[in-house]
Amino acid sequence: MNCAPAIGQLVVGGILNGLITDEALDRVRQATDIVELVSQHVSLKKSGANYLGLCPFHQEKTPSFTVSPGKQIFHCFGCGAGGDAVGFVMRQGNYSFPDAVRFLADRAGIELPERAERAGVGREDWEKLVAVNEAAAEFYQERLWNSPDGKKALNYLKGRGMPDGAAKGFELGYAPASWDALLSHLKARGHEIIILEKAGLAIKKADGTGSYDRFRDRLMFPIRDVKGRHIGFGGRALKNEELPKYLNSPETPLFHKGETLYGIDVAKDEIRKKDYGVIVEGYMDAIACHRAGITNATATLGTALTSGHLRLLSRFSRNVLLVFDADEAGQKAAARSLDVFLPFSPRMTAKVALLPRGDDPDSLLVREGPDALKEAFKGREKLLEFVIKREAAGVLDIDGKIKAAGTITGILARLDDAVERSHYLKMAASELGVEESAVREELGKKINRDVKTGVYRSESANKKPATFDKIESGLIQAALIDPEAALYAADNLTPDDFSDGRLRKIADALFKTALTGNAIEIPRLLDMLDDEDVKRAALELSVREAAHEDPLEYVRGAVLKLMEVRYKRTIEETHTLLLKAGALGEKESVAELSDFRMKMAKALSSKDFELLNKLQKELIEWQKKRSWTK
Ligand code: UTP
Ligand code: MN
Repeated sequence: MNCAPAIGQLVVGGILNGLITDEALDRVRQATDIVELVSQHVSLKKSGANYLGLCPFHQEKTPSFTVSPGKQIFHCFGCGAGGDAVGFVMRQGNYSFPDAVRFLADRAGIELPERAERAGVGREDWEKLVAVNEAAAEFYQERLWNSPDGKKALNYLKGRGMPDGAAKGFELGYAPASWDALLSHLKARGHEIIILEKAGLAIKKADGTGSYDRFRDRLMFPIRDVKGRHIGFGGRALKNEELPKYLNSPETPLFHKGETLYGIDVAKDEIRKKDYGVIVEGYMDAIACHRAGITNATATLGTALTSGHLRLLSRFSRNVLLVFDADEAGQKAAARSLDVFLPFSPRMTAKVALLPRGDDPDSLLVREGPDALKEAFKGREKLLEFVIKREAAGVLDIDGKIKAAGTITGILARLDDAVERSHYLKMAASELGVEESAVREELGKKINRDVKTGVYRSESANKKPATFDKIESGLIQAALIDPEAALYAADNLTPDDFSDGRLRKIADALFKTALTGNAIEIPRLLDMLDDEDVKRAALELSVREAAHEDPLEYVRGAVLKLMEVRYKRTIEETHTLLLKAGALGEKESVAELSDFRMKMAKALSSKDFELLNKLQKELIEWQKKRSWTK
């Protein structure tokens, strides 16, 4: 799913969803300079303490996009977009929050814990699971190369043209034809049976009398995560008639097929370098690619392409090449992968290469050699283009055209980028041999319909800059700049002193931070706010050029004014109470309240805030004792 925000919506990194820890987020923020980050997409000019440029999130001719190096945030006065570095990446690249943090972490060379490490298993279990997979991989390798029964598997590999170097490089192994070879080997080395079972290497017997090896008499392909840690296995039967042909580790706390790409650990650097990653369908195919020098190749693990695969790959490049067989099944698989890919567009680009009918990369390599395989990969086409052409292909009569146009416009309606949409619209019209305007009209209907179902995101949510009470907002601004000013405000005011609901919430977070002695960092402060409008207000205030020379001095003055407002309000409330007391015939109360009111009015005119404060406290206590005041 596309969890990217709609345009005009505020994005601030830090909506913790359990995947990214505070500590990790802090490290990533520390390592990132927002000016440098934004400069890669927007040409920025220094303007006072900030940088200014043309907003990348809405059309504008005069720059209102502001980046504050001091506060490490951006804000657009034109469309209201704003956030910190994480927020910028989320919006700019259409990333989800955890993916944006990951993107920045990769960029800064920071290692974040992998998903598996956070996957509901304790650290200890997690390490045991990796250790047992690793020990198993070693055992299987040992059996392949150094045991009599391994010969069978070695012969099989030879028969398939696999050089020893490649087999060793990919740590291929052999699981002996025994019910407990692995089990007893690992047990003797101190691994717990329960961990073997959790890792999917051993299976509990139905009658509860112990467990047995999952993989027997199979060629073993160890599967490693992005950091090269062993998380699972694929095991191929040595005879073609044996079923299933491939047996894989089950889903475990470590191993999620939909989020793992075989070979990603050895391919990731090349993916980054070549700026695209290849995804093929099988273990043998990934190895074949590497043998042919296509070292940016990975494979799915017997599942169709998922968004998890694309997310993983997107950490290293925005571009992916999907490889399928040219037969009907391969073409269908290619078309299906478009569904997965569309939410990533235009952030990611996908191309397809179709291999000669009936071939996969491994068979092509074995039959025709590395050059043939490389050549086949060159015949690549944009995935969207491929699907549109395929839908339109062979359509001759009007019914066919209508149907194909329906499918194609359905796809185009899901594209976020108007330019991209228009490009493919043109192509679709020409492929179908109909007027562009007709396809456009159909697309228009789809988009309108999708607006109602919420599928298509509107791009018109431009927001006007917010207006605030001058004193209240000035005070917040000053407190954001100067910690001493913040502390002064926190000591003398409460959030309730702010009439603006948004400022009340900002003041609450700000005062809490100041009173606990923590430094006021805007991104952290934003994390404390849960409401979009409030975050937007905080951002806007923190990037506005502050009007005050001396923030503390300003806050002192503003505090006095707000206190005046506070006590005026108290006096008004006293008056209301007085009327109520009169109506209820509470004679004594009437007398006491008029006394309060008089004292307060006097203290206010001499600006004796100490006395006012004391009187207010007394009034509150007084009220508590009289139930009719509620
Ligand atoms: P294929 O059936 O295309 O096999 O499955 P292959 O990769 O060409 O294997 P070889 O060349 O016959 O050895 C493609 C992928 O689908 C998964 C495996 O990951 C395999 O590599 N698969 C296939 C399974 O998980 N289980 C199966 O029974 C078959
Ligand atoms: Mn094959």
